[in-house]
Amino acid sequence: MATAQQVKALLKSYSDGDSEHFVSVALQIAANAARSGKGKLAQDLRELVDTIKNRQASGKVSGSVSIARPSGELASLLAASFPKTRLSEMVLDSSTREPLEKMIREYHHHDKLQSHGYSARRKLLLVGPPGCGKTMTASALAGEFKLPLFSVQLHGLLTKFMGEAAAKLYSIFDSMNQTRGVYLFDEFDAIGANRGAGNDVGEIRRVLNSFLQFLEQDDSDSIVLAATNFVGMLDDALFRRFDDVIEYHTPSDDQVKELIRNRLKSFLPKRIAWQKIFAASQGLSHAEISRACDDAAKECILEGSNQIHSTIFISFLTGRQRDGQSDRRSQATE
Ligand SMILES: Nc1ncnc2c1ncn2[C@@H]1O[C@H](COP(=O)(O)OP(=O)(O)OP(=O)(O)O)[C@@H](O)[C@H]1O
Ligand SMILES: [Mg+2]
Repeated sequence: MATAQQVKALLKSYSDGDSEHFVSVALQIAANAARSGKGKLAQDLRELVDTIKNRQASGKVSGSVSIARPSGELASLLAASFPKTRLSEMVLDSSTREPLEKMIREYHHHDKLQSHGYSARRKLLLVGPPGCGKTMTASALAGEFKLPLFSVQLHGLLTKFMGEAAAKLYSIFDSMNQTRGVYLFDEFDAIGANRGAGNDVGEIRRVLNSFLQFLEQDDSDSIVLAATNFVGMLDDALFRRFDDVIEYHTPSDDQVKELIRNRLKSFLPKRIAWQKIFAASQGLSHAEISRACDDAAKECILEGSNQIHSTIFISFLTGRQRDGQSDRRSQATE
């Protein structure tokens, strides 16, 4: 039988996502069992370990054993999380929601599609202004597929690993085969900006070319997402390599209402000045409106009241407008 120390080591390696250690402790337990004459148990354990290893090698490990936290070099490149978000929690235009729903449907039936020679969509470029749901989409897809989410910030990757960024990208694409997940390449304009735009052509072009090549060669079961705020700056060659380009927009009045209703729930009074709220929400992102809702809800709790007051809520929205304007002004002068 496994010793208490071995059980502890097994649980620790599971929680650290350290698959090598997990497997090595499991093999030690099998060896102990063999030594104490439990040949059948030892054999069963070894077979289970082989199944895990084979499924990892073929990228078929599902959420059952979450040996998915990156270790070694990958840990410094990828941030891992296990989101529970669902697409139904998002407020989106139908032109944004429909391709995402289509992707989820295809992915759930990828074996069926494959048996007829088709592959499910799994490479998406997400484009739109800040705070409108690109990162949330990555979490929602991970939540829908019950897969881990691995994110990499490309600006950071380029500055931290100047000269080695293409090699680092290779390790990330390589890990897509080992560990099935949703891989988000955030701040994609860092490498995807138009080649004619007079940027530092050398290193960035090399990294972009490598990315395009890895993306094209990738035939793993992982989902690959790239997100950027700047559609106009992106290189044309990119668009062809993705299965879909999904555009995000600031919310319409109906979406503002849906977002506020979802967010404020019981804090929202039955009668509220929607027209004034729409006017105060003009141009705000989902993230800014969500933050105004949270501020208003907290104010309610601290005041001991159970419903927000329109005027106070509107003042939070206009506060967000002012913060947004000053952020935009400071970005313009940077
Ligand atoms: N479409 C949406 N529906 C509901 N909530 C949203 C939506 N978009 C954003 N939010 C809220 O705003 C937060 C921030 O959004 P998110 O990080 O997805 O923005 P983003 O598009 O990735 O922005 P950035 O370009 O700055 O990275 C989310 O965690 C969520 O609370
Ligand atoms: Mg984001």
